[in-house]
Amino acid sequence: MKLTLSTSDPLSVVADVAVIGIVEGASPRAGSLATLSKALGPVVQKTLKREEFTGKKDQTVELSSNGQLKPAKIILMGLGSAPVTESQIRTIAAKAARIAQHHRAASLVLEVPFGVQGAERAAAEGAVLGAYRFTRYFTGDRLPKSSLERVILATTGRVSKETRAAVEVGQRVGEAICIARDLVNEPPNELYPESFAKICQDLSKANGLKCTVLDKAQMQKRGLKLLLAVAQGSVREPRLIHMVYSPSEGKPKKKLVFVGKGLTFDSGGLCIKPAQGMEDMKGDMGGGANVVALMVALAAHKPQIEVHGLIGAVENMPDGAAYRPGDIFGSLDGKFVEIINTDAEGRLVLADVLAYGRELKPDLMLDNATLTGACIVALGNLTSGYYANQDELAERMKTASGEAGESMWHMPLLDELRDGLKSDWADLKHTADRWGGSITAALFLREFVGTTPWIHVDIAGPSMAHRAYGLHPKGGTGHGVLTFLKLIDAYARES
Ligand code: BES
Ligand code: MN
Ligand code: ZN
Repeated sequence: MKLTLSTSDPLSVVADVAVIGIVEGASPRAGSLATLSKALGPVVQKTLKREEFTGKKDQTVELSSNGQLKPAKIILMGLGSAPVTESQIRTIAAKAARIAQHHRAASLVLEVPFGVQGAERAAAEGAVLGAYRFTRYFTGDRLPKSSLERVILATTGRVSKETRAAVEVGQRVGEAICIARDLVNEPPNELYPESFAKICQDLSKANGLKCTVLDKAQMQKRGLKLLLAVAQGSVREPRLIHMVYSPSEGKPKKKLVFVGKGLTFDSGGLCIKPAQGMEDMKGDMGGGANVVALMVALAAHKPQIEVHGLIGAVENMPDGAAYRPGDIFGSLDGKFVEIINTDAEGRLVLADVLAYGRELKPDLMLDNATLTGACIVALGNLTSGYYANQDELAERMKTASGEAGESMWHMPLLDELRDGLKSDWADLKHTADRWGGSITAALFLREFVGTTPWIHVDIAGPSMAHRAYGLHPKGGTGHGVLTFLKLIDAYARES
């Protein structure tokens, strides 16, 4: 996709589709509405009336330009009456791109309310995110016949070197998030730990990141016993992927570690899942995918912060070598863990990767994972839950997710539930009863982070979308990456 900025009136730009944002209650005698009426006549007001278009948020109305204006089709999009924010601009651009693609448009001119801080970059991110489709496994008729190739952002502001650079960064960040979506959407016969690691190495090379991968033998040597226990039942060997971004000049102000659960498939193991919906468990590496996307985005965003990305890439399968309920394993941290339910595999993988990340002595360690169905029961499909071992970190997350426009909710680490993890036979068991299942999973993880400042994000719901909404298509979303970028910015600003 080619993204450009233009100061021309969007209605005088040649394009297949123009999307024009209209503030609620905007005067029909001013701005774009006036231009439209002048060119197309009374049909404009008649159509708006018939469709009851007043500019309320998310309303759209379509007009044909009949050759009277440069864009072939004009779509008015309601912006509502409240002042538009950066994250809303991102969503508007995504919706515009989706609408354009729905109309089989190859070019789109988009007028968004600029003058908002960060508007150009957000519009570019949104256009890329909205145009995303996963078509790798389509042939013939199933292949899309057209794709959105050109997006012109019509701005009333000045087009400067800075705004052009912002559009370019926005495009690269949008494309990075699409990598997370691709990885989630890839089938598990194609994406398994070894191929996942290869993709990370290739992306690191292309983006100037450092990348090291530990194989099974190296992990045995280091003692990642819990991760290896989960991997036992699969013919696919596990990998620990470690990517590093460091600023090209000057000393980094902080060191942050991001950890992702990378279950390339979660059958449940011996405690096998029901067949219905099991195919969705190809997306159980959504947290790991987000880490990859974040690292690639950082190469464009270039904060003055050192960031490590760690992914535990494993497949959870039930063969003759599989780990069993009743088994007891040691861990990188040293604690012994009794296995209760082999479908609670994510927390075991994360426990070792968190213990590994802790050794880097970061200023913050954040893990994100499609960890529990219980989190979806608690918060629904569209919202992730985050936990923090310091109140101040929870505040930072709230601010970051608010700025990013991603729906996240602060969940409590209830010490009352810690007893549920007591085992008669080992230091810990990894599951408690079903009540508060997202919380007890977080409490289990907490056992492995020591005193490191730590945030855990359970993205089980929003990591995959069951229908298109907001920024997202159906399937992998990349939910979380935008918030993590805002969080990193906060650390960069502070020092
Ligand atoms: N990957 C699943 C959690 C999940 C469920 C993610 C639905 C996305 C959508 C996880 O490994 C799992 O199976 N968790 C169990 C834990 C239980 C056995 C304690 C769960 O949530 O049922
Ligand atoms: Mn599971
Ligand atoms: Zn899982």
